[in-house]
Amino acid sequence: MSENQQTFVMVKPDGVRRGLIGEVIRRIEAKGYTVREMKLFVIDKELAEEHYGEHRERPFFTELVTFITSGPVVAMVVEGTDAVVGARQIMGATNPLEATTGSIRGDFATAIGENIVHGSDSPESADREIKLFFG
Ligand code: RTP
Ligand code: MG
Repeated sequence: MSENQQTFVMVKPDGVRRGLIGEVIRRIEAKGYTVREMKLFVIDKELAEEHYGEHRERPFFTELVTFITSGPVVAMVVEGTDAVVGARQIMGATNPLEATTGSIRGDFATAIGENIVHGSDSPESADREIKLFFG
């Protein structure tokens, strides 16, 4: 059954550098979701390691933390019907080569390490990430 949800969305440093803040927000709003909270700031190492804690043992972890702290991000709380899955649908697959045309990653990214946006992968992750960034 569908339900009203909040999810955590972030325009990553590559998206901000490339001037895609507006494009990301436009697509989220055009779909029918509402931006409830938003801030532009540089993530520090501690927050980055906490946010990506599930990837701590992965070979790309150091690269991931370096990248996500490399410039300002735009962090948002996005709300709407089934917003967790819906926001990730707008973003497309993690690897831009597998993301369909019409998705953010499919239209604007070429490499998995610089894929423009983040979206929570479950309602539980959304709760955790919203508390982490806006709590
Ligand atoms: P995100 O957390 O950024 O929304 O992306 P996601 O759920 O689609 O993907 P996830 O598995 O959580 O991976 C987090 C980010 O790590 C980078 N990554 N690099 N080199 C690699 O094989 C690799 N795998 C993942 C991506 O930038 C991904 O968004
Ligand atoms: Mg993820």
